[in-house]
Amino acid sequence: MLRKILLAAVCLLGAGAAYVAFLLPSHRPAPGMRVDGTEARLARGKYLYEHVTNCGDCHSEVDESRFGFPVIPGGSGKGRVMPAGMGLPGTVVAANLTPDPETGIGSLTDGQVIRAIREGIGHDGRPLFPLMPYAEYSSLSDDDVQALVAYLRTLPAARNPLPATKVNFPMNVIMRFLPKPVDSVPPAPSDQAGRGKYLAQVSGCRFCHSPFEKGRPVEGRDFSGSHEFQLAANARVVSANLTPDEETGIGRWSEQEFIDKFTQFKDYAAGTPPKVDYPYNSIMPWLGLSGASEDDLKAIFAYLKTVKPVRNAVVTHPDAPEERNIPGYRKRAGLSPR
Ligand code: HEC
Ligand code: HEC
Repeated sequence: MLRKILLAAVCLLGAGAAYVAFLLPSHRPAPGMRVDGTEARLARGKYLYEHVTNCGDCHSEVDESRFGFPVIPGGSGKGRVMPAGMGLPGTVVAANLTPDPETGIGSLTDGQVIRAIREGIGHDGRPLFPLMPYAEYSSLSDDDVQALVAYLRTLPAARNPLPATKVNFPMNVIMRFLPKPVDSVPPAPSDQAGRGKYLAQVSGCRFCHSPFEKGRPVEGRDFSGSHEFQLAANARVVSANLTPDEETGIGRWSEQEFIDKFTQFKDYAAGTPPKVDYPYNSIMPWLGLSGASEDDLKAIFAYLKTVKPVRNAVVTHPDAPEERNIPGYRKRAGLSPR
């Protein structure tokens, strides 16, 4: 009798493991969407890629010694092994997104690329490591995700073989449960704050600027900052409070001050940002966002003014002994409510 029960238990466990290994993630065939690269669509895709969704921050070769991790000329979309100093659970490789048929995405269908972006399923059916922010991108409208795909097809094809991603236990199991199917997504609302809400989601403001515990956002504290990121072994950077709290958030900022925070980095984005040590650098996509349209920045500001104020004072560069040496800090100092 005992033997039978044991046997049954072992079978059940085995079936459970097989379910996780083979059936999850619960993906479906890639959607059959075909994307036409009209001129308007390409322009929208380029704008999103470079200034809103900042795909190149991970998928490009970057100069890690300079402020804002600028893309190395010719390195856009070529993919890279994410730095070991970030403390990731294994080797995580952001794919080559250029149209090279063997090492890039040239032989993937539009539907496969769309599924990867919004659902987190790789072309081979594999769950993607969630550093790829597909949970945020799941809100991308059909129009915008198609624009992104159209633009990716125009990147110069670069042959760049990269190692495969290899994620350690238990994350390799956990990540199988995360992908969810995404059906059609309508365009963003056209009112200013509604558009701002959409942008704050797909450009990662909400993700990076909300505190997380055990992989989940802490309820009631959206946009209150304190999300900590490891840049290197000796350098953390912590996101700022973007709620309208007057003392610790952006409650006293004017719309113009908010816009200036971003546009002050335009020169860096156009040229070569200064060299900085890791504790003075930031994961905040300053270079890309400096080129976001004034309209979009205004919409984000309008939306942020509507979120619940949360009192939370943040030290953004805890490992930087001389805060005034942070690029842009002098101009930032006058504006920051800290
Ligand atoms: C924060 C870093 C990050 C950002 C930003 C990011 N990605 Fe990724 N992406 C990754 C990583 C890492 C992987 C590989 C994950 C893995 O192999 O498990 C990936 C995988 C992919 C894949 C899967 C390719 C395949 O093998 O099927 C596609 C397509 C992709 N990303 C497109 C994009 C696009 C388009 C954007 C912008 C809208 C973007 N990514 C933004 C990190 C990022
Ligand atoms: C990848 C993570 C990440 C994303 C995405 C991100 N931020 Fe940040 N942000 C940070 C971090 C970390 C800091 C603090 C360090 C610094 O100032 O560079 C910061 C700082 C800021 C500051 C400066 C606040 C101050 O008091 O000086 C503003 C404003 C800001 N972010 C707005 C935004 C907005 C708006 C978005 C979306 C459009 C956004 N961020 C997206 C990580 C992020």
